[in-house]
Amino acid sequence: MPTKLSVNINKIATLRNARGGNLPNLIQVAKDCERFGAQGITVHPRPDERHIRFEDVYDLKAVLHSELNIEGYPNKKFLALVSEIMPHQCTLVPDAAHVLTSNQGWDVVANFDFLKDIIAEIKNTGARVSLFINPDEIQAEVASRVGADRIEIYTGDFAHNFSKPDKTTLIAPYQRCATMAAALGLGVNAGHDLNLDNLAFFKQHVQPLHEVSIGHALICDALYFGLKKTITLYKNCLK
Ligand code: PXP
Repeated sequence: MPTKLSVNINKIATLRNARGGNLPNLIQVAKDCERFGAQGITVHPRPDERHIRFEDVYDLKAVLHSELNIEGYPNKKFLALVSEIMPHQCTLVPDAAHVLTSNQGWDVVANFDFLKDIIAEIKNTGARVSLFINPDEIQAEVASRVGADRIEIYTGDFAHNFSKPDKTTLIAPYQRCATMAAALGLGVNAGHDLNLDNLAFFKQHVQPLHEVSIGHALICDALYFGLKKTITLYKNCLK
């Protein structure tokens, strides 16, 4: 099964915001990511807009041809954005307002009623809804009942422990979670801290895997390899 690469361009916006101007040009970078083979673009507007700004998402929507994935915590402002933009996919993450970066998935059981209404509202816009969860079969099962179309499995712990020798034990919960999701008819995405060292292993051992969303490491690698070569290298890991 092919796995799509969605490039998270938040880091490009962070670099731009550091100087207040328009360098690098976020829209041009997003278009170039597509031109170089990215099959999707992910943005994660946070409440303080320290990376992607809400207005960036309107500009991106106007020019992108690949899959647009908007991820974030579903507060009022976020939901209004999603209903206006009508992205292909909306990934809901449980981030508290000021976390540095997403660091865990939803407790879907504890947030069942909250998520159920929000997912129904987003689906009305035509967007596919993906729920960011830890590699946990129970969360996958409840994600299916709450109305999600996909799960995105949080891969931070996998990535942080990838240098340890026992990779069979490390990957097992991700395999079980993906298998459970697939059996329930959910698609499977994954993301966080995936990089050129760990991505091919993850792809080879976790099925199905419909999409990975990668930002930080990919943009760092682009400093050395350039964006075009970097995207090719990441796509090669997904073959
Ligand atoms: N998926 C989610 C839900 C995220 O919040 C992030 C980071 O914004 C990513 C994937 C991408 O993580 P990374 O930048 O480590 O590749």
